[in-house]
Amino acid sequence: MHRPHPRRLLLRRALAAAGTLWLPRGAWSQPRIANNPFTLGVASGSPLPDSVVLWTRLFDTGVFGGNNLPDLPITVRWELAHDEAFTRIAQSGQAQALPELAHSVHVEVQGLESDRAYFYRFALGGAGNDHVSAAGRTRTLPAPDATPARLRLAYASCQRWEHGYFSAWRHLVADAPDAVVFLGDYIYEYPGAANAVRAGTGTWAITLSDYRKRYALYRGDADLQAAHAACPWFLTWDDHEVQNDYAGLTAGENGPAVEDFPARRAAAYQAYYEHMPLRASVLTRALAGMGSGAEMRLYGQVRFGQLATLSLLDARQYRSPHACTRNGNPGSSNVDPATCAVWMDPARTLLGAEQERWLEERFARAAGEGGWTLLGQSTLFGPRDFRRGEGRSYWNDGWGGYTPARTRMVDALRKHRVANPVLLGGDVHENWVGHVLADYADAASARVGVEFCGTSITSRSGGNGRIPDLLAENPHFVFAEAERKGYGLADITPQQMSVALRVVDDVAAKQTRIDTLAQFRVQAGRLTVERG
Ligand SMILES: [Fe+2]
Repeated sequence: MHRPHPRRLLLRRALAAAGTLWLPRGAWSQPRIANNPFTLGVASGSPLPDSVVLWTRLFDTGVFGGNNLPDLPITVRWELAHDEAFTRIAQSGQAQALPELAHSVHVEVQGLESDRAYFYRFALGGAGNDHVSAAGRTRTLPAPDATPARLRLAYASCQRWEHGYFSAWRHLVADAPDAVVFLGDYIYEYPGAANAVRAGTGTWAITLSDYRKRYALYRGDADLQAAHAACPWFLTWDDHEVQNDYAGLTAGENGPAVEDFPARRAAAYQAYYEHMPLRASVLTRALAGMGSGAEMRLYGQVRFGQLATLSLLDARQYRSPHACTRNGNPGSSNVDPATCAVWMDPARTLLGAEQERWLEERFARAAGEGGWTLLGQSTLFGPRDFRRGEGRSYWNDGWGGYTPARTRMVDALRKHRVANPVLLGGDVHENWVGHVLADYADAASARVGVEFCGTSITSRSGGNGRIPDLLAENPHFVFAEAERKGYGLADITPQQMSVALRVVDDVAAKQTRIDTLAQFRVQAGRLTVERG
């Protein structure tokens, strides 16, 4: 008798659980749950004009940080309402929290009105067993032909637990963005940190169970929960969701040696899906087996009516191994291109051939259109030459280490005359603001776009000491600051984008103030970053 492969079966059930298939009648499963299992909050994401993903995960902390819930499917009810008091229900239904997916719940609600706020919550029913989640607020995208007057996006990245409190998220809620764009390093795989502000788990994240515990630790944070409950999120990842400096199917260099890196990556990717408000279709390409390197398709594009598009890129999963690392070891290092034979090898890629093709096709399709072209990806786009004066030295983990790939992206933006490109990035734990140049070697060359690479929510960085030298050496950047932590807030209208770099006073303090470190303005059609 033919029996489906266990992973295929799991993925099929994931699709069913997300509501893309009907739950058969009588499929209710309601074991008795003593404690309220909605301890990790709620989230929404991947919005479209008529649809959004609602997320939660049932979790009841066990003695060793595991989940005390029974190893059974649990039926969860959900409600989506027009009002915060849930008196005008727009839709409701039920979904399965499967133990195979860590009792996570992904509901893909369809048939919604565009450009509307909705409120949602989850509940477990049953005799003496009425547990209700916190309520979240979400929003659908404008219709493709709509002309929204404004859009407020927050962009953020890099929230190492041990490095501080997530107070920035609490302040972000008060800034009331329409959506959050998260650009990677949602978790860190490390066992802890020197001079930790908060204690970590004490273990490396390597197995599926490790990664689940790590997400449960982070998602237990009230400030992070508040930010997820406040608005929908768009997400991509960087390296620490798996391992520092990994590249495609090549392991990075930190922590214990793991024999089967593709298996580790598959475990990390599955845990990522389980904890993010992503569509089940993200998983479907993995049907062939993530454990042997099959893709988890995260990248994609959304449109905010005629005002802007946002392409979220995946700069980790498909990239070539790092060029010319020290002694041929995996991981990152600073490299002098003059000493590196493969530095300019056009076969090396950051996005992978297929994603590059997909992106250029999007550019071609948008040729002649107006609006803002937002490109969310995990790292700094413009090169930073760390050597003052003669000679060059670049960090080989960012786009700087994939120069031909970056040039191809810039050339594609120019070729298709893409309207108002804005690169958003993270990874470097410092704020960097600048211009995307046709030729970075020539500071007077044409401006092709602008770049706002954000600081971290908490993750540490070097100080400001070397910043003046770096700015002098790399004049395509107009601003850099390497100490303050927070997020960026972009207010976008058809005429201009203004960006506030929001920073907290002290990530080591539970209660801390927020401030605007600097404010910038880009006028549509001008591709120039102005201060103020
Ligand atoms: Fe980071």
